[in-house]
Amino acid sequence: MGAHSSSVAIVLICSWLWIVGAATAPTGDLRQRLAVRKHLRRLNKPAVKSLKSPDGDIIDCVNIAHQPAFDHPFLRNHTIQLRPAFHPEGLYDKNNLASELSKEKPNSLTQLWHQIGRCPEGTIPIRRTRKEEVLRTSSVKRHGRKKRRTIPSPRFADPDLINESGHQHAIAYVEGDKYYGAKAIINVWEPNIQQTNEFSLSQLWILGGSFGQDLNSIEAGWLVSPDLYGDNNTRLFTYWTSDSYEATGCYNLLCSGFIQISSEIAMGATISPVSKYGRSQYDISILVWKDPKEGNWWMQFGSDYVMGYWPSFLFSYLADSASMVEWGGEVVNSEPDGRHTSTEMGSGHFPEEGFGKASYFRNIQIVDESNNLKSPKGIDLFTEQSNCYDVQNGNNGDWGSYFFFGGPGRSPSCQ
Ligand SMILES: *[C@@H]1O[C@H](CO)[C@@H](O)[C@H](O)[C@H]1NC(C)=O
Ligand SMILES: *[C@@H]1O[C@H](CO)[C@@H](O)[C@H](O)[C@H]1NC(C)=O
Ligand SMILES: *[C@@H]1O[C@H](CO)[C@@H](O)[C@H](O)[C@H]1NC(C)=O
Repeated sequence: MGAHSSSVAIVLICSWLWIVGAATAPTGDLRQRLAVRKHLRRLNKPAVKSLKSPDGDIIDCVNIAHQPAFDHPFLRNHTIQLRPAFHPEGLYDKNNLASELSKEKPNSLTQLWHQIGRCPEGTIPIRRTRKEEVLRTSSVKRHGRKKRRTIPSPRFADPDLINESGHQHAIAYVEGDKYYGAKAIINVWEPNIQQTNEFSLSQLWILGGSFGQDLNSIEAGWLVSPDLYGDNNTRLFTYWTSDSYEATGCYNLLCSGFIQISSEIAMGATISPVSKYGRSQYDISILVWKDPKEGNWWMQFGSDYVMGYWPSFLFSYLADSASMVEWGGEVVNSEPDGRHTSTEMGSGHFPEEGFGKASYFRNIQIVDESNNLKSPKGIDLFTEQSNCYDVQNGNNGDWGSYFFFGGPGRSPSCQ
């Protein structure tokens, strides 16, 4: 009886699909809907437990062995590394630990969904992807990916390219050596985004290869992206690509690649609280480094949360080392012809305003060939239009190597 009725249900669903498909004629439509459903099934794995965050997100606690990474054919037989073989030397020095402890941080709440619970051990928290988020992208294939040409390259600071792509940066960078990681403490804000197809982020980039061709990039930080998330919240993110944002890579866990081990922090989840102008300031610490033993690239959030790793085989250049590291902000400006929207970078204020008003990166460091964390030498600064978004750096005892950056976008000085 039970079997009988369920097969009836299946027949009904099939004929309904068929009728819908036939009635609305374009079979491409149906094909797209099926592709969206398949994509969502791949991303939203069955959960051991689900938590509804105050911001509307659903956080699924997914068995660590069932995470999206293991859909990758190369990872079928992969043994999860539950911890890195090595951390960079110097990470737990007095100086580094002191720099983690922002004086004004009242407690350790870092993700909004922690207000309603945690994930059990042996699971990882995954932010559930909504159908609308997939439908907002140009195609299912592009969901979770940056648009091509998001090239944060001083060397490619070609005005035509800026006008074409609308990406604007205010960054500090080092190049010309071999880098095995980078760290920074990043001030957290919630910048205004004028158009939903724009975004504003603060992150670090670990780069190898050539811009525009076979660039390898590992990225982590925070971003506000109405297109990706359907709101203006500031969210933790990672990104990777091994071919200049073409066919490989994605944000967070939105494709197979990054292997998460943390049961505590969810990629893509809202960071809370954020800094307010002239009031309390909040920052997050991000470290990405290459394990000298296994060669995988690991990420740590704050001083406690080892998030997981990108297996070395995902990359070509980065399988060995990085040749450039960048820290700073990026926005997309959707106005054509060099005009500007009022999308903010950082706090939306220029660097001159300083602490409490302008956004900062402090204690920026690189990991060298001997796996030592240290202050980078020969930092350069870059911005396409300093009258819109600017960057200024400095150095002192507490903050080590630091910079202030950002701006309001459209303003009397930037039209
Ligand atoms: C995984 O292991 C099976 C059985 O040992 C083997 O046949 C298969 O080739 C392996 N796959 C990969 C991708 O290594
Ligand atoms: C996001 O911010 C924009 C611009 O300030 C606003 O128009 C929009 O309503 C906000 N969206 C949400 C979901 O709050
Ligand atoms: C962009 O295009 C405008 C108008 O065509 C031009 O004046 C400007 O110099 C170009 N470059 C930048 C960086 O805005």
